[in-house]
Amino acid sequence: MSKQGRINKITISEVLKMKQAGEKISMLTAYDYSTAAIMDEAGVDILLIGDSLGMVVLGYDSTLPVTMEDMLHHTKPVSRAAKRAMVIADMPFMSYQVSVQEALRNAGRFMKEAGAHGVKLEGGEEVAETVRKITSAGIPLMGHLGLTPQSVHQLGGYKVQGKDDKTARKLMEDARALEEAGAFSLVLECVPAKLAGEISRALTIPTIGIGAGVECDGQVLVVNDMLGTFEKFTPKFVKKYAELSKDIQAAVGRYIDDVKGGTFPGKEHSF
Ligand code: KIV
Repeated sequence: MSKQGRINKITISEVLKMKQAGEKISMLTAYDYSTAAIMDEAGVDILLIGDSLGMVVLGYDSTLPVTMEDMLHHTKPVSRAAKRAMVIADMPFMSYQVSVQEALRNAGRFMKEAGAHGVKLEGGEEVAETVRKITSAGIPLMGHLGLTPQSVHQLGGYKVQGKDDKTARKLMEDARALEEAGAFSLVLECVPAKLAGEISRALTIPTIGIGAGVECDGQVLVVNDMLGTFEKFTPKFVKKYAELSKDIQAAVGRYIDDVKGGTFPGKEHSF
């Protein structure tokens, strides 16, 4: 089943109810109006303007160069497209680490200027005070633990996290700290499936997994990965639901042939 056929807007209380009812939450990234409108119409629960924007849309090697202005620019069209889905914007690197005040101001910009319904940021206990401040200002906040791409240089690469007892315990503590600080949900990225299941059962807020197994309360993928339009690399956790780059190449090839052969535009396309 793809189309959910439900007209009620997804809010934080809806996603909490979904966890309580055992209904899985679907989340995909979105960066533009047309794609976001298609995904919203298909019934996806949450649209995330991820800072993966840096890699799949802007062509950087990591998420680190992405700015607040980049994120606001791409959040606006997604907010305009979303009729049902909840719209969550990623806070980019250095938009929330310098001070709690700056974090709150930037989180507020996503709500005021870009029409987001909430924000996401990376980190555990070390960002708990920031999470508390943002959520007490009435801004829904999604946490992000495990492989946190903004810390790629500290983590030493894009690796599975929480593989030994010590780091697994730390992830559990971080998850509890985020819930306690007011996060309404939590992304678990590249975490062993068993640990992700344990964290999911220990929390009342839903977990959204990416490379974290089937026991998470929901799943997220980068839309360009699952549609097959980003081919630079494909992580193991990606399931490709389409191979659109092949379709696009074939279509563009036919267009070039038509233009070169003088068969486009035809009479029906001319005035
Ligand atoms: O930036 C992003 O797309 C993300 C998701 C992969 C969770 O953070």
